[in-house]
Amino acid sequence: MQRVKAIYPGSFDPPTNGHLDLIERGSKIFDELVVAVLGNPEKDPLFSVPDRRKMLESLTAEFDNVSVDTFDGLTVEYASRVGAHALLRGIRAISDYEYELQMALMNRKLQPRLETVFMMPAERYSYVSSRLVREVAQLGGSIDCLVPPLVAQKLREKIDVAHKFAADEAARSNKSTAERKTRSRKRKS
Ligand code: PNS
Repeated sequence: MQRVKAIYPGSFDPPTNGHLDLIERGSKIFDELVVAVLGNPEKDPLFSVPDRRKMLESLTAEFDNVSVDTFDGLTVEYASRVGAHALLRGIRAISDYEYELQMALMNRKLQPRLETVFMMPAERYSYVSSRLVREVAQLGGSIDCLVPPLVAQKLREKIDVAHKFAADEAARSNKSTAERKTRSRKRKS
């Protein structure tokens, strides 16, 4: 019987517990599953593509039939390049359905032999998205139950660096304003 290879494409910025739940489910029904990180130049990502790839590699190390790759361009062309038969996507709620259906039908038009397979993550992750995780983390909320500990740690590091940079910038700007005022006072006296 033919072995079924699937790709699971996405941005994964960052990978969430919902993504991992889907990877685990996918690994049980496909012989081979490639988690494919899109290097999307249109978005302003929080994590670089190599960082996302590294995180996913450690998070999926326990699954023998799961690998991680990166790609650019059309998903269907990437799927053909790696010889995939199926494309895995998660649907959390009805609100996902319209966009996912549109994508699945467009992908089918582009590559009729590639089958899109939808799976649902566990209900407890039905509200979890990378965008909300980024927003909550950046505003100081707890994201511990939403992402694996490795991702939570990386998010904290990223956000600490961003806060330090903003604080340094503010200090530099305050210093130069104070210096300008001193110079102006000296010129007037
Ligand atoms: O995790 P995301 O951001 O919802 O993933 C969306 C993704 C990467 C699956 C989609 O944007 C995609 O396939 N992009 C690659 C370009 C492409 O093939 N576009 C046509 C899609 S119908």
